[in-house]
Amino acid sequence: MMMVIPTLFGLEGIVADELRWKGFQGVVAENGRVFFDGDFHDVAKANIQVRCGERVQIVLNRFRAESFEALFQGVKAIDWKEFIGRDNAFPVKGWSLNSKLHSVPDCQKIVKKAIVEKLKEAYGQSWFEETGSLVQVQFSILKDEALIVLDTSGQGLHKRGYRQNSNMAPIRETLAAGIVELARVHPDSIVCDPFCGSGTFAIESAMKAMNIAPGLLRRFACEQWDSFPNHIFAQQRELARDQIKKDADFQAFAYDVDEHCVSLTKENAKKARVASKIRVEKRDVRHYAMGTEKAVVLCNPPYGERMFERKEAETLYGVMGVVFAPKPRHSYYIITPHENFEVLFGRKADKKRKLYNGMIKCDLYMYFR
Ligand SMILES: C[S@@+](CC[C@H](N)C(=O)[O-])C[C@H]1O[C@@H](n2cnc3c(N)ncnc32)[C@H](O)[C@@H]1O
Repeated sequence: MMMVIPTLFGLEGIVADELRWKGFQGVVAENGRVFFDGDFHDVAKANIQVRCGERVQIVLNRFRAESFEALFQGVKAIDWKEFIGRDNAFPVKGWSLNSKLHSVPDCQKIVKKAIVEKLKEAYGQSWFEETGSLVQVQFSILKDEALIVLDTSGQGLHKRGYRQNSNMAPIRETLAAGIVELARVHPDSIVCDPFCGSGTFAIESAMKAMNIAPGLLRRFACEQWDSFPNHIFAQQRELARDQIKKDADFQAFAYDVDEHCVSLTKENAKKARVASKIRVEKRDVRHYAMGTEKAVVLCNPPYGERMFERKEAETLYGVMGVVFAPKPRHSYYIITPHENFEVLFGRKADKKRKLYNGMIKCDLYMYFR
């Protein structure tokens, strides 16, 4: 089977490397998505283990669709009975971009109709109640090429199960995990997030360092499918648990000026089972100091759009430039949309990378020593 993982823009290469490193085959990165090959074991493994991708989907067909007829035939050609039982609900959603078939509701109707026609033939019945478990069908049409997939994840993979809803502009877990990869956090790293909010960077770093699979605390949509052998997830969870490195030397320091963020980070770290590796304290970045011989600083400071007034954010960037002094074996990874960050911070980054935090176009400023 072919599978695809949609990714945040800018993280395609990281997800592709992650998949190759974890032993997946046939990995090919494209804009915003990464394809790979595998079977049901790989579906479960990818859902449980992939840190930086958004969801895992099974590719059912990929074809030119310049007319509704072509779309209908391409969808009808799929052996739907293999995945959709007599009672399953099979809603269809999708999107279209730069294509002749631009009306999404019309495409949705055509795709649904083609599936129903195929299932009618397969099951010899004319009506489907759709009262059973959910098999989500998704289509995308990009430059007249249709891709028909089944979503196996349900909630996006960024929902790890450790983070409470919070209104303090948290960074998406999959993006934080991507930055953790870029910073090469490993089992004996010392990590610090001086603007920890809900603790995402510290927790994602600890999980990576201890090799805790991000999906161990949650369930996935395809576990409910009749067609999905139910022992597979249990097996893959067992394998993932065996790979945890409890004795990693890793340490993280998470600071925030807000008392509420301090307790939130503590609670979230506990839920993620990494609390023993993270020291959380109330501290203003003005008093930031790492007495350790090495450190990787990862942070998502206030942007001045959602949280702080712009002026206040700009003053903070100046403070950061002073307290994040260049030091051997200390590196800094700062994500912000502020175009003038380097000037305010006072140093040109050694490297920059474009990333999206939700809809906000950001740069990751990297300072190495
Ligand atoms: C954009 S949020 C960080 C979100 C975090 N990355 C997460 O995933 O939850 C910025 C954080 O900086 C904190 N903050 C603002 N000013 C600060 C200061 N002077 N020193 C330390 N933390 C500060 C805020 O309380 C807020 O939690």
